[in-house]
Amino acid sequence: MKREQWSSNLGFLLAAAGSAIGLGNLWKFPYIAGSNGGAVFLMLYLVLLILLGTPLLLAEMAVGRATRLNAIDACRAIHPRWGFVGAAGVVGAFVILSYYSVIGGWVLKYLFAYMQHSRLGDADAYYTGFVTRPLEPVLWHLLFAACCCGIVAFGVSKGIERISKIFLPVLLLTLIAIGGYALTLPGASQGLRFLFLPDFSQIHSFSDFASILVRAMGQVFFSLSIGMGTLITYGSYLDRKANLQKNAVLIPLFDLVIALLAGIAILPCVFSFGLEPSAGSGLLFRSLPYVFDHMRGGRWLAIGFFALVFLAAVTSAISLLESIAAFFIDHLHWNRIAAAGLSTLGFALIGVANSLSMGLWNSFTLFGMSLFDLMVFLSDNVLMPIGGFFLCILASRIWGFSSMLREISSNGQYAIRFPGALRWILRWLAPAMILVIFAVSLF
Ligand code: TRP
Repeated sequence: MKREQWSSNLGFLLAAAGSAIGLGNLWKFPYIAGSNGGAVFLMLYLVLLILLGTPLLLAEMAVGRATRLNAIDACRAIHPRWGFVGAAGVVGAFVILSYYSVIGGWVLKYLFAYMQHSRLGDADAYYTGFVTRPLEPVLWHLLFAACCCGIVAFGVSKGIERISKIFLPVLLLTLIAIGGYALTLPGASQGLRFLFLPDFSQIHSFSDFASILVRAMGQVFFSLSIGMGTLITYGSYLDRKANLQKNAVLIPLFDLVIALLAGIAILPCVFSFGLEPSAGSGLLFRSLPYVFDHMRGGRWLAIGFFALVFLAAVTSAISLLESIAAFFIDHLHWNRIAAAGLSTLGFALIGVANSLSMGLWNSFTLFGMSLFDLMVFLSDNVLMPIGGFFLCILASRIWGFSSMLREISSNGQYAIRFPGALRWILRWLAPAMILVIFAVSLF
């Protein structure tokens, strides 16, 4: 059977950017930055984005394109004992989807709420009332999961590319509009200062610093979709002639711009309306409705915004689902529809528990975290760093750096920039950094 392929490098770039840009930028970045010291977090984030993001993106895409296989079989093709790296990624994709889809459901809920009402009233009360209800958030979560399942069942290039092509430019413009308005709010400058001026006086001990560092690393992995084999899968549909280096620079750049714009839209409102930046996973939903409710025509902007967040979330969620489904399709020879359907069933069930942990089951905690927060921690701070660590070793040592370079250069067609630095980062710096940060986080 001929393997599906992206229709062009632009198609891939948009699909990979679509995978990277998602709730990680719009929902997670502002709240994680908000609860971890703002600008100090941002500084560490930038450093790690450059040192870990680009090299790991390259390594994953190269493994995928060279082997043309799903994550598990790709790792196994490089070395028969290394299938576990891909397997960890597939498990991780389940974990991420189980909470991602819950938030995707919230986004749908807000989209429909603004279609029905011109304003939501007290945003804080509205949010708390909604997420603690037992049934309603679960239903929205299932609707979101069903949307992803439908697209993946359609197939990679048709379903995934088509969506990403349209919405990314529109998302950019909408964020600029919301951010522009947010900056005119009274007290907005406090939000900007929080995001861009490091305040080291808030860091009292090494453990404060270490915990910000761990969160920053987790966010880099999460936001770029690395460490879980997603880009192995996407890379496996990529044309041999596409320029991987260009993709590995452009994807983090787009991703960063969108995350910063989300921060610039959300944090000023947080300060202007007297919320706490450390309010946690509800930050987006508790802050922006204030803007929409106060602004003339805000309702229409809200509808546009939540529709775009929904699309961004869907294009990311399908990349996760695709990396699970690809394994069932390639390896077990299931048909696409069964693979998508059964994978969805799996994560959707865990998702129900995650959703309930916000309300009905909120007294149940493990390691001091709700089930939902535990899943976030497990994926960002355990599974992704582990996956990233082994991917560095797999690509640069087991496969061999020269084989990897040959793939990145498309067999010598493109000159490699900074091969020495890339080699040193993948063989030494990145694994060491991940290990140290991971070890520190355990204490
Ligand atoms: N990067 C996506 C976001 O920011 C989420 C995501 C998609 C992801 N695929 C992934 C995260 C693979 C980790 C691994 O919303």
